[in-house]
Amino acid sequence: MNLILLGPPGAGKGTQAKRLEERHGIAQISTGDMLRAEVKSGSEIGRQAKAIMEQGALVPDDIITTMLAKRVSQPDCAKGFILDGFPRTTPQAEALDRMLREKGLQLDHVIELQVDDDALVERIAGRFTCAKCGAGYHDTFKPTAKPGVCDACGSTEFVRRADDKAETVAARLEAYHRQTAPLLPYYQAQGKLSAVDGMAGMDEVASQIEAVLAK
Ligand code: AP5
Repeated sequence: MNLILLGPPGAGKGTQAKRLEERHGIAQISTGDMLRAEVKSGSEIGRQAKAIMEQGALVPDDIITTMLAKRVSQPDCAKGFILDGFPRTTPQAEALDRMLREKGLQLDHVIELQVDDDALVERIAGRFTCAKCGAGYHDTFKPTAKPGVCDACGSTEFVRRADDKAETVAARLEAYHRQTAPLLPYYQAQGKLSAVDGMAGMDEVASQIEAVLAK
C-alpha cells in the first residue's frame, strides 16, 4: 500500500504517518526528516537546504526528487510507504507519477488532513521532540507523562525545530497555500483524494484515515 499524507505544516502528517507505519508495517518517508538529517550531517545537500528551510521556503525540486527516488528503492519500502511532506509542488507530483510507473507501482490513496491555519500555529509552537530517540510531543496536546522525561526512552533532553518560530511558520503556510494546495485538484482528478478532519483529536483522525484505507 502506497499513500500520500497531504496537508499544511503542523496538520499532523508526521503524527499519523508514524501510527500508519506501526499499524500497517509500511515505511514512513518524511522528506523534512531526511533534509534535517542532511543538515545535521553537514553534507552538500544539507548545506544547500539549511538556509532555505530556515526561511520557510521549499528546497529545489531536483534535490528532493533525487533524494526520494533513492529512498523508495530501499528494502523497507518493499511492502509500501507513506509519503509525509512529499510531493509539495506539481513538478514533484509529476516526478512521483513517473517514478511509480517505472517501478510498476501504484498510488493507493492521497489523504488530505484539513486543519484551520489558526490551529496550525498553536500546534507548531507547542511541538517538541526527544533529542535522543526522536519521540514527538506537544506542550498541551501530547505532554510527556512525567514532566521533562521522555515516555519512550527516559531521556531528559528535548529539542524544538529551528523553523518552528512564528515568522517562519507564516512563510511555511504561505508556501503550502501557493505551491502545495494546487496538488489537491491534481489528485482529485486522478480519483485518489480523500479528506479527513485534521481538527479532531489524534485518535479520531487515525480512525478516519483507517476508514479511508478500508474503502
Ligand atoms: P516538514 O518537516 O515536512 O514540515 P511540515 O510539512 O511543515 O510539517 P510539520 O512536520 O511541521 O508538521 P506535521 O504535519 O508533520 O505535523 P505533526 O504531526 O508534527 O518540512 C520542513 C521543511 O523542509 C519545509 O518547510 C521545506 O523547507 C523542506 N521540505 C520538506 N519536504 C520538502 C519537499 N517535498 N519539497 C521541498 N522542500 C521540502 O504535528 C504538529 C504538532 O501538533 C505536534 O506537536 C503534534 O503532537 C500535534 N498534533 C498532531 N495531530 C494533532 C491533533 N489531531 N490534535 C492536536 N494536536 C495534534
